[in-house]
Amino acid sequence: MKNIIIFGAPGSGKGTYSDEIVKRYNMGHISTGDVLRAEIKGNTELGKIAKGYIDNGQLIPDELMIDILAKTYDSMPAGQGVIFDGFPRTIPQAEALKKMLAERKHEMGLMIELIVDEETLLARLLNRAKEQGRADDNEVTIKKRFEVYHNQTAPLAEWFEKEGIRNTFTWKGSKDVMLGEIFAFLDKQ
Ligand code: AP5
Ligand code: MG
Repeated sequence: MKNIIIFGAPGSGKGTYSDEIVKRYNMGHISTGDVLRAEIKGNTELGKIAKGYIDNGQLIPDELMIDILAKTYDSMPAGQGVIFDGFPRTIPQAEALKKMLAERKHEMGLMIELIVDEETLLARLLNRAKEQGRADDNEVTIKKRFEVYHNQTAPLAEWFEKEGIRNTFTWKGSKDVMLGEIFAFLDKQ
């Protein structure tokens, strides 16, 4: 499978659908949020820096994030295709991803955009807070994450549009329907 960039607001299902796509197409998966949370758990220098941003719902600085992404990408098995989940989130990150892949003679592949209404997003994240206790799943931080998404990340959808790789999927109330639409699209690639 080609590389896939999965793009959407907090709680839109980037991680959930990535897991399903990985199983069906046997791909690699990079969730930058998971990478950062592992660093926090390990109490590394990077983890200490990242914690301050994540707990406040803010983005980690681009230079740091781009460096982490390139190192993680190079550690993945070659030739399988990778899902980028949570990266890029800013225009500089998108430009850096394009350059990083071009340097390796790889392609960005496809972008999958998940559109979900904010009421549903909030309900999902508050529910996950009860089940998993993720530090940034409290109402105050969730609202900040939505704001950061709207201001810094959502405008990036246009960047993908210009690259000609934007594919949008809109939540209509059923996970099976959403997944079916995504699989039907990916099966044709
Ligand atoms: P990250 O971990 O990427 O968090 P996020 O973008 O806020 O998204 P989530 O992981 O909360 O949601 P998701 O879209 O994966 O949805 P999920 O499948 O879990 O980033 C965290 C932080 O790290 C950022 O705030 C930032 O500080 C930092 N960071 C990360 N990347 C960065 C970058 N590139 N640059 C700078 N900083 C960066 O679904 C949510 C829940 O809904 C789950 O519990 C799921 O089970 C449930 N659910 C219920 N019904 C459905 C359904 N029908 N479909 C999907 N999920 C459903
Ligand atoms: Mg996630």
